[in-house]
Amino acid sequence: YPIFAQQNYANPREANGRIVCANCHLAEKPIEIEVPQAVLPDTVFEAVVKIPYDKQIKQVLANGKKGDLNVGAVLILPDGFEIAPPDRIPEEMKAKVGKLYFQPYSAEKKTIFVVGPVPGKKYSEMVFPILSPDPAKTKSISYLKYPIYVGGNRGRGQVYPDGSKSNNTIFTASAAGKITAIEPAGKKGGYTLTIETANGESISEKLPPGPELVVNIGDIVGVDQALTTNPNVGGFGQGETEVVLQNPLRIQGLLVFFLFVLLAQVFLVLKKKQFEKVQLAEMNF
Ligand code: HEM
Repeated sequence: YPIFAQQNYANPREANGRIVCANCHLAEKPIEIEVPQAVLPDTVFEAVVKIPYDKQIKQVLANGKKGDLNVGAVLILPDGFEIAPPDRIPEEMKAKVGKLYFQPYSAEKKTIFVVGPVPGKKYSEMVFPILSPDPAKTKSISYLKYPIYVGGNRGRGQVYPDGSKSNNTIFTASAAGKITAIEPAGKKGGYTLTIETANGESISEKLPPGPELVVNIGDIVGVDQALTTNPNVGGFGQGETEVVLQNPLRIQGLLVFFLFVLLAQVFLVLKKKQFEKVQLAEMNF
């Protein structure tokens, strides 16, 4: 969950660019982000984050049963950019955003926002309404190209913050040996599996409900050999894009320049026509 990242990492984007969700959501699945190429100052625009997956698929829940996937995301905006206040968001955009709630990452990181978990069936495409800064009002902001980073996830993670495995991952043998017993572990489901090592030691492995066993009594297993399937169907992906904070004066200047180019070309054609007339007149002498 994004809250696990908020509680454990001051900055969700590590120095090498990796977003920390990947530390626990071990599988990689693609995501996409779309923003306009350029935005004017003090303008509301959309960042669309797509977290695609097969909606038919079910995942293993904490109780071992199957259920739908949820999605979540973290959006890292440049300084000055923010989630647009409700009164600035046009109705049409509000409808696209839906009931999503964008939470600032922390008191220090106010331009980083987290969302989720929310139902993936509804929000596999999320719209973030963003307000661009105004360099005229905020002196520290300039008309530049700014990077936007995003991480998006569908499905449950493989590791809890305390380092323990969730039941949505593969379980492996902690020692080499022969499997001598596989017993159902209580009402909640799962198994307790006993491995007898070469020196006669008995090691018991606790397997939670969810992952399916791929070994039988009597099998010889090596260290780290899979005892179960990997039930995980989700995954985390990250992406980045850029947005130009555009000065309207530059656009106006460009249009004026185009106008001059157009006029210059028209005048050149007229001059040519005039010269042709002179040439004709000279030939008649
Ligand atoms: C579950 C997103 C960071 C561990 C989830 C779910 C989402 C999500 C959407 C629910 C999935 C579902 O129910 O289908 C994110 C995002 C993160 C992030 C966007 C980064 C901002 C982390 C971190 C950890 C973690 C850092 C580990 C310390 C887990 C685990 C679950 C989970 C173990 C399953 C919980 C359970 O059902 O018992 N995460 N997560 N996540 N996340 Fe994350």
